[in-house]
Amino acid sequence: MQDDKKITEKELMRIGVSLPDNLLVKFDNIISERGYSSRSEGIRDAIRSYINHYEWMNDIKGRRIGTISLVYDHTKRGLSNMMAEIQHEHSGIIKTSIHIHLDHDNCLEVVVLDGDGKEIKSLAEKIISLNGVKFSKLTTVPSTDKL
Ligand code: NI
Repeated sequence: MQDDKKITEKELMRIGVSLPDNLLVKFDNIISERGYSSRSEGIRDAIRSYINHYEWMNDIKGRRIGTISLVYDHTKRGLSNMMAEIQHEHSGIIKTSIHIHLDHDNCLEVVVLDGDGKEIKSLAEKIISLNGVKFSKLTTVPSTDKL
């Protein structure tokens, strides 16, 4: 639970927002499916995600912990070798990885990272841009001493 979820009604600021109807309908459907108690709660979470994403994009530096999740086609020529080579280059920040053979061609890999944010970003960009990577997601948060 985040601190700003504990604040009382009195401390909340009210804002008016104009939205196109279809955007609001989509948003309301999602918050209802996800079981939010109110639209306001959904909007607060959406704003938190937006802020986190912005900060993440601009502030992957200093010590970070995170994961890179990947789905890739291991039959793509050279891909498995490149994947291994890049990870060996950054072995200092890779804590562990999980590899699951999904089907004949596809692999799921989750790489767990702890280290300098710039190096994490650089490693992620190298892996994500490889030909044959079908899905990828980098998630990072500040190291535990800043949480
Ligand atoms: Ni595999």
